[in-house]
Amino acid sequence: MFRHSQLESVKAWIVRPAHAAMPLHARIQRAIRQLIVDGALGPGKPLPASRALARSLEVSRDTVEAAYAQLHAEGFINRRVGSGSFVAEMTEFASNRHLSQRDTLLRNQAPNLGKRGGAMFRSGGVREMLSPRPFAHGIPETRSFPLQLWERLERQVRKEVGAQTLLHGDPQGTAPLRRAIADYVNLERGARATADRILVLTSSQQALWLCANMLLDPGDRIFVEDPAYYGAGKAFDAAGLECVPVQVDRQGIVVDRIITEPRRAKAVFLTPSHQFPTGVTLTLDRRMALIEWAMRHQAWIIEDDYDSEFHYAGKPTACVQGLDPYDRTIYIGTFTKSLFPGLRIGYVVLPPQLVKPMTVARTLLDGHSAPMAQLTLARFMEGGHFGAHVRTMRGVYAQRLGVLADLLGKHLSDFLEPGIPAGGLQMPCVLTCDIPERTAIDAARRVGIELMGLSALHAAGDGKAGFLMGFAAYTPLEIEVAVKKLGNAFRTLAKL
Ligand SMILES: Cc1ncc(COP(=O)(O)O)c(C=O)c1O
Repeated sequence: MFRHSQLESVKAWIVRPAHAAMPLHARIQRAIRQLIVDGALGPGKPLPASRALARSLEVSRDTVEAAYAQLHAEGFINRRVGSGSFVAEMTEFASNRHLSQRDTLLRNQAPNLGKRGGAMFRSGGVREMLSPRPFAHGIPETRSFPLQLWERLERQVRKEVGAQTLLHGDPQGTAPLRRAIADYVNLERGARATADRILVLTSSQQALWLCANMLLDPGDRIFVEDPAYYGAGKAFDAAGLECVPVQVDRQGIVVDRIITEPRRAKAVFLTPSHQFPTGVTLTLDRRMALIEWAMRHQAWIIEDDYDSEFHYAGKPTACVQGLDPYDRTIYIGTFTKSLFPGLRIGYVVLPPQLVKPMTVARTLLDGHSAPMAQLTLARFMEGGHFGAHVRTMRGVYAQRLGVLADLLGKHLSDFLEPGIPAGGLQMPCVLTCDIPERTAIDAARRVGIELMGLSALHAAGDGKAGFLMGFAAYTPLEIEVAVKKLGNAFRTLAKL
């Protein structure tokens, strides 16, 4: 008493190669169970008599009986002597059709989250583009990454370290990588790091989350650059902190405002080497004043040094952490920009007293970072490949920055003014025409171009209209095509 399609789907299930290892009666039982779960056989529907089904499937009656017995034992069918087998009533709510209807209803309902969960959810999270297109910001060139070399190093690690890489790793990070990072930040960033002060994480974002939740309590204040990196603001909001915006001028965050601010704060977050999004560098006297302020108030300086590898004019200034003799600074670094975002390795250089608490806290989040990737990266750094890659990419990005600047001058000078940065992977541009920022961004998206608006990065949402244009991940030709498209889109808008 199966419909033709139902019988065919049972037959198809039975002969599928993936199911070949199962005994025949189990395959028949699973195939019928699937029909019930999918709602194709509703509650109360009769099943064929075992003799009839055995004939249709060309199997013995005992085989079908065994399948029915199992379905009965699992509660999917009822068997009544004399009248046959029927799909059980209780399956109504378990069927996939019902579940998917229920899922849709529930997904649209307000979730019953806790206060902390609600704050995290409302933050909207930080999601980056999966397939970047011009001019998505902050993305490095990955198409020319030396993958073969990376794979060779990975094979070496697997051969030498063997099955140990398959086990749990040190929550603080593998020793070779911590050593390599300490050497790198000391030499290149002027930090004062040792391997035992490094905590390897999956990202800067994880570091921000740890700082927000380990160093401050809900309701505590934190000074934040204005405009600021959205990922930091979201992490702090989600932790229930009160962000106190502090203006950024041409010399970086206005430290005098912090010193004279009547509302005390327990920490300050900043991107001193290459301010996000303006691109300015915090001057040395302001760095020193900030360190003194932190010492006096026993406050923390959270230093996000996310892309200082890419500095095109001279050397980047040394990091704040290296200037701080009082150990009030937490230095955050990442390989998202210098290598590739999919690597998911970031790190912090911690004051000694924070190493244990932060390491314990990270075990509650994700245990530890993957040992295989850490050991491969350590070799990449020890072998000088990291330095070489960064040098190569610095040249590539400097050229792309020049191309973008030239093309903007040629095709978009009536609409915007580029702020050519001394470093980084993106260029801030200010709109100089009457087109509102949102309209410009929407028009760009319609022609396949991604722009990040600048005004929303300001605490009051009232910054100068403009956008960030990422250039590092796109070839000169891709940049040219995109700039021309953008020019056409803006000219069309201007005519309206
Ligand atoms: C200022 C800043 N910090 C941190 C990050 C993200 O780094 P990660 O991928 O390690 O979280 C970004 C990425 O855009 C950034 O712009």
